[in-house]
Amino acid sequence: MLIRGREDLPSREITPRGVYLRRREFLERAALAATTLALGTAPTTPATAVARYDSDETPTDEKDATRYNNFYEFGTDKQDPARHAGKMKTRPWSVRIEGEVGKPKTLGLDDLLAPHTMEDRIYRLRCVEAWSMVIPWRGFQLSDLLKRFDPTSRARYVAFQTLHDSEQMPGQRRPVLDWPYVEGLRIDEAMHPLTLLATGMYGRDLPNQNGAPLRLVVPWKYGFKSIKSIVAIRLLEKQPPTSWNLSAPGEYGFYANVNPAVDHPRWSQKRERRIGEFRKRETLAFNGYADQVAELYRGMDLRKFF
Ligand code: MTE
Repeated sequence: MLIRGREDLPSREITPRGVYLRRREFLERAALAATTLALGTAPTTPATAVARYDSDETPTDEKDATRYNNFYEFGTDKQDPARHAGKMKTRPWSVRIEGEVGKPKTLGLDDLLAPHTMEDRIYRLRCVEAWSMVIPWRGFQLSDLLKRFDPTSRARYVAFQTLHDSEQMPGQRRPVLDWPYVEGLRIDEAMHPLTLLATGMYGRDLPNQNGAPLRLVVPWKYGFKSIKSIVAIRLLEKQPPTSWNLSAPGEYGFYANVNPAVDHPRWSQKRERRIGEFRKRETLAFNGYADQVAELYRGMDLRKFF
């Protein structure tokens, strides 16, 4: 499914939350028809892929998704980001793409986004704290961005970095984490069609507390991999350090795949509470995306590489 960038949309055209579900039903039928036709051709970023990866669940209430956040740069309480992130300046904004690429460059946000067509995708987000949400994201595949910069054959990992500016991010004045927040993916994870760079949610630009103007979304991994307010993307030969692994290596691994079979040392990961519900749900392997991603980890001991 392709939609125009928000900049082109008059506000009356922005899709209300309830419309996502009907649109998904339509897309699934369209995707089925298109897949039948396109069988045997190698997909790049086809509209069909979008519907395939859409969740069929009702999105979480937008108020919850934008007022119950983790963004430690603005404080450690769930309400802190919504209270304090509003003042962060997200324009002008630039992102460095560097390391093992043929064409390293620092790009202004508009130049970075210009070649990409935005898509809507509904993904589950499962936090390591055993709660989850269903979010309609707006974004584009990270793979499409990386390809523009010609990764070299040595590029085996991708590292991401959040803005480091304690004037704007008061949480960085306290040593809660080693600032700036950093995350990483293996190159095949980064190139996987499920992996998004998001610029919006619920049909609007990302609110600051959700990681404006650009954040990662890796739906089969615990939420902490989905790094917010990105200013640098670095392709590397060696596995990069990640904030939560640096902070508590026994609790948070590099891979952080959602895995109900491997408990966090201090709590179970077997079940989760969907925000807005009281009952607990069973947590699914790879957050329910096993059909698409389990293959990436064939032969790996996921208790060791947690
Ligand atoms: N990115 C940065 N820069 N700082 C953070 O503290 N928290 C992570 C992740 N990305 C975090 C971050 C965690 S723990 C989670 S669960 C998700 O963001 C939460 O995303 P949300 O607040 O949009 O639901």
